[in-house]
Amino acid sequence: MDPDRVVIFDTTLRDGEQSPGISLNTTEKLEIAHQLARLGVDVIEAGFPISSPGDFEAVQAIAREVHGPVIAGLARAQAPDIERAAEAVRDSERPRIHTFISTSDIHIEHQLQSTREDVKGQARAAVAHARSFVSDVEFSPMDATRADVEFTAEVLQIALDEGATTINIPDTVGYATPQEYAGFLGRLYELVPALHDVVLSVHCHDDLGLAVANSLAGVQAGARQVECAINGIGERAGNASLEEIVMLLATRAAHLGYSTGINTREIARTSRMVSRLTGYPVQPNKAIVGRNAFAHESGIHQDGVLKERTTFEIMDATTIGLEGNDLVLGKHSGRHALRSALHELGFQLDGQALNTAFKRFKEIADRKKHVTAMDLEALVTDELRDELRSYTLEWFDVDVSNRRPPHARVAVRNPDGLEMLGDFTGDGPVDAIFRAINSATRREARLREFRIDAVTGGQDALGEASVVLELAGQSAAGQGVSTDIIEAAAQAYVRALSNAERKLLAVEEEEEAELTPAP
Ligand code: KIV
Ligand code: ZN
Repeated sequence: MDPDRVVIFDTTLRDGEQSPGISLNTTEKLEIAHQLARLGVDVIEAGFPISSPGDFEAVQAIAREVHGPVIAGLARAQAPDIERAAEAVRDSERPRIHTFISTSDIHIEHQLQSTREDVKGQARAAVAHARSFVSDVEFSPMDATRADVEFTAEVLQIALDEGATTINIPDTVGYATPQEYAGFLGRLYELVPALHDVVLSVHCHDDLGLAVANSLAGVQAGARQVECAINGIGERAGNASLEEIVMLLATRAAHLGYSTGINTREIARTSRMVSRLTGYPVQPNKAIVGRNAFAHESGIHQDGVLKERTTFEIMDATTIGLEGNDLVLGKHSGRHALRSALHELGFQLDGQALNTAFKRFKEIADRKKHVTAMDLEALVTDELRDELRSYTLEWFDVDVSNRRPPHARVAVRNPDGLEMLGDFTGDGPVDAIFRAINSATRREARLREFRIDAVTGGQDALGEASVVLELAGQSAAGQGVSTDIIEAAAQAYVRALSNAERKLLAVEEEEEAELTPAP
């Protein structure tokens, strides 16, 4: 392989999914994983199989169905974790186990309540155990950047002796500066020369806004794998953003000299899909994928770009797939046209799924003159969520006037197929419909966040609503898409409620399993 080729390890579905409020089901994770494969990532970290039965199921489904990238499962340096991860990734064409243990004294003393000697023993046993299942094993010394470099080097040497093939150096709490991080990697190379024979990897968190800068510094110090997530999602302030590091390496290739296998034209679409399915919005001024990343507000800039794009643009929007997709359908388009438009967008829909998408498409096309690629994308992603939905919005009425408080009536079908009615007089139409749904489902959910965005421009644009609510201490997100924003909001609320119920059920099942004595 080209020595300057950088491996892109995507952790959207593992570290990214650890962001508060995100609760992706297996269907949604699979859809994202397929899109990551289209994007051309080298490794998909699909989840943390021992963390829950849902995570295990998703990693296993991705390992079975997604071809091309390496599929990795995360495991603490403990035998049961490693066995669960091994089972989850077993059916992948290219399985990897990623095992980790902290090397910083803060973690060893306070979190692990253990000793350096124990950590060495656990790292040795974990890598050896992982190697007994797969030939591709990644080892991470967690919180490495706050650890003693000599001790970390000793642990890495052990991991290498036991057969680790990738060594990842996490800046777990986003504490390092680029210079320090590069210096830390440089010192590890000196202390552990065998590191030159494996892939060194970087995993940087963004607590100080340095995740991408630190990742680049790591690559310049010799690392050839970058761990990152779409839209930079992840624990706390998130991970290094995939689109930023990839476009940095691509745009400054002549200066930096590195390459990746990413098809950059899939970036915008992947970002939209992840934002939609996670319910995490992308800030308007976010580098690369923010709504304003290619917008020019000042007259001088607009004038310059009209004369010559490169006056104020260092990247062409088409290279990340933001423009140039002129696919448009209308109300006379048939099932065949829809199918091939979806195919062009990378969605393989047949049978019942195509029928449902066609029905939704017709409803939208009746209300909206042109249905664009972005509308179709929003619709299909929206439909994905239906499979596992436990409540369904059947119908609603909302009376709105500026002379009396709005009143909403709704019918919601429950998981047993029963139609439940509810009504409420609220402070505003959205408040009224949300509380009417609570009344219909007899649930005391509390709204935590609500957002509405337009999928495209124009007066007849589709509205996309995102809701985060809390039910019995469990927070969950849901999204909805419609030309009617009240309908989009109600759908989003019903889905968030369904997700919260599923989470509560999973917790109950786990608690029951813990109480049941093993046979
Ligand atoms: O941030 C971190 O240290 C991690 C490890 C599990 C690699 O996510
Ligand atoms: Zn992390």
